[in-house]
Amino acid sequence: MERNWDLFLAPYEQTVSELKVKLRGIRKQFRETNQHVPIEFVTGRVKPIDSILAKSKLRKIPLERLDEEMSDIAGLRIMCQFVDDIYHVVQLLRNRKDMKIVIERDYIENKKASGYRSYHLVVEYPVQVLEGEKMILAEIQIRTLSMNFWATIEHSLNYKYQGDFPVEISERLRRAAEAAYQLDEEMSNIRVEIQEAQRLFSHGKGTSDDTNYQSPSENEVN
Ligand code: GTP
Ligand code: MG
Repeated sequence: MERNWDLFLAPYEQTVSELKVKLRGIRKQFRETNQHVPIEFVTGRVKPIDSILAKSKLRKIPLERLDEEMSDIAGLRIMCQFVDDIYHVVQLLRNRKDMKIVIERDYIENKKASGYRSYHLVVEYPVQVLEGEKMILAEIQIRTLSMNFWATIEHSLNYKYQGDFPVEISERLRRAAEAAYQLDEEMSNIRVEIQEAQRLFSHGKGTSDDTNYQSPSENEVN
């Protein structure tokens, strides 16, 4: 079948751009109301045509069924500082009226055999096209910075070894995934400490110059 890819991918491009703006908007709203910002940064991409073709072959998805059966042509990634932030963001997305969650996969509680951790959502998102409204599936991956670090490295190694890692490398990767998770846990514990310290402090223990500095999470990332 001859396919006009530009035409096919246009609503996916639109979905990715709109969702990027909306998800970054969440970040901005938290910042403006001086709340802890659960989103560090947001990225998005439309799956390249060669990857769509390779996956459709591997998963035996007919090209006429891509809209229904390939849920990650539109892909968004939300990076968070803390594991708790991930669940907070998921809850925010569950409550939204402009998208509908159709699949949820918690690869944090249930990590993959590779060591991979992230929270995955597949959402239905309506885009407005000339013919009216078109429902587009989009995959949203929500992960900590540390999970993202691991996944990025593992992904590039995967590319090199075509998924066929030498045993030693896959063991190292699994150990690295555990170390990344330990880091997340340590940071969460430290965070509880920080918040307790702040509570004590706000109950009238004097002031320090340091409290006037903005928190590091206020860095302008996007
Ligand atoms: P896909 O056919 O890859 O979509 O698998 P699936 O339908 O079982 O979906 P799943 O939710 O398991 O994972 C989809 C996406 O999560 C992948 O395209 C990757 O972006 C990411 N992912 C899943 N497992 C791994 C992994 O072991 N390593 C890395 N780096 N990323 C992963
Ligand atoms: Mg998938």
